[in-house]
Amino acid sequence: MSRIFSGVQPTGDLHLGNYLGAIRNFVGLQDDFECLYCVVDLHAITVWQDPEKLAANTREVAAAFLAAGIDPTRSIMFNQSQVPAHAELAWIFNCVARVGWLNRMTQFKEKAGKHRENASVGLYVYPNLMAADILAYKATHVPVGEDQKQHLELTRDIAIKFNNDFDVEFLPVVEPLIFGEATRVMSLRDGSKKMSKSDPSDYSRINLTDGPDDIAQKIRKARTDADALPGPDALASDGRHVEAAHEKARPEAYNLLSIYAALAEQSMAVTLEQFEGAQFSSFKGELADLSVAKLGPIGEEMQRLMADPGHVDGILRDGAARANAIAEPVLREAHEIVGFLNP
Ligand code: TYM
Repeated sequence: MSRIFSGVQPTGDLHLGNYLGAIRNFVGLQDDFECLYCVVDLHAITVWQDPEKLAANTREVAAAFLAAGIDPTRSIMFNQSQVPAHAELAWIFNCVARVGWLNRMTQFKEKAGKHRENASVGLYVYPNLMAADILAYKATHVPVGEDQKQHLELTRDIAIKFNNDFDVEFLPVVEPLIFGEATRVMSLRDGSKKMSKSDPSDYSRINLTDGPDDIAQKIRKARTDADALPGPDALASDGRHVEAAHEKARPEAYNLLSIYAALAEQSMAVTLEQFEGAQFSSFKGELADLSVAKLGPIGEEMQRLMADPGHVDGILRDGAARANAIAEPVLREAHEIVGFLNP
């Protein structure tokens, strides 16, 4: 049976990339699969988090899940620290994964930057915890944005090595689910950089809690180039994706077009046809209207939910109990395989 797991860090400023690359995709999967959606607070503290803000940000991600359409009666949504199996299985995986594997992780290199010696050890072993998140439920499919691909390859390597080392067929080899027209949303200020919570400029991203005026203003100010919008000639031979060379030449234009396509729930091909030859000024107007129409209600619902923390906390608590009931037996089995004495 297929089981879905995914996580989002409560590090503040959830943005359009998180929504289009991940959270929106979580919603549709509920119809066909058993889904677990986790607010990964253990991951968040791999870099410093103010304790009060961490709690508020945890509720913010939970509110975004609910506002986007995750149904907590069908799916299990919870925060990671309420389920001890994540941290416990991660320790076992710390002893399975190799230092060489972690040294190849580009996200660690990016996040630790020049201050590698001063990064937390948690940041270094971050991907092992991610593997534990998924495998504590023997989840088989993981919906994420493109930036998480390398981490999921590590999850696969850990599962394969664990199974080989202990000569068992215990852990599944997970499949990433990277889909939609906006699997890698770029900064509105610089089309070569990913839209990210950590960008110092708020104009680089559309936050899910931005009001209509902010959304429209950020789109109006988004960087573009001087040419008219491209048409379907830019498509690669698969007829679906933009040819890499075209994208490289006009990253901002294709980023905005892919955001439009994703929000309008239409293909890039149709979007390119629709706006071929248009000027950015008119396209931006349409993109702003569409963004406000699609994101406005989500932001409002998030604000409403965040004003009622008791309600959100109750949903997370209930989710954690249900998550525990699945993860506990898996952890116990892992203990037996490794040779730990269970109580
Ligand atoms: P996080 O919190 O950085 O991001 C949450 C989700 O949003 C996606 N995403 C994007 N997608 C498209 N364009 C962007 N600019 C963009 N920015 C972020 C991410 O790919 C992700 O799907 N390590 C994970 C959290 C995690 C996890 C897990 C995910 C922890 N354990 C287990 C899956 C399974 C992270 O930092 O995501």
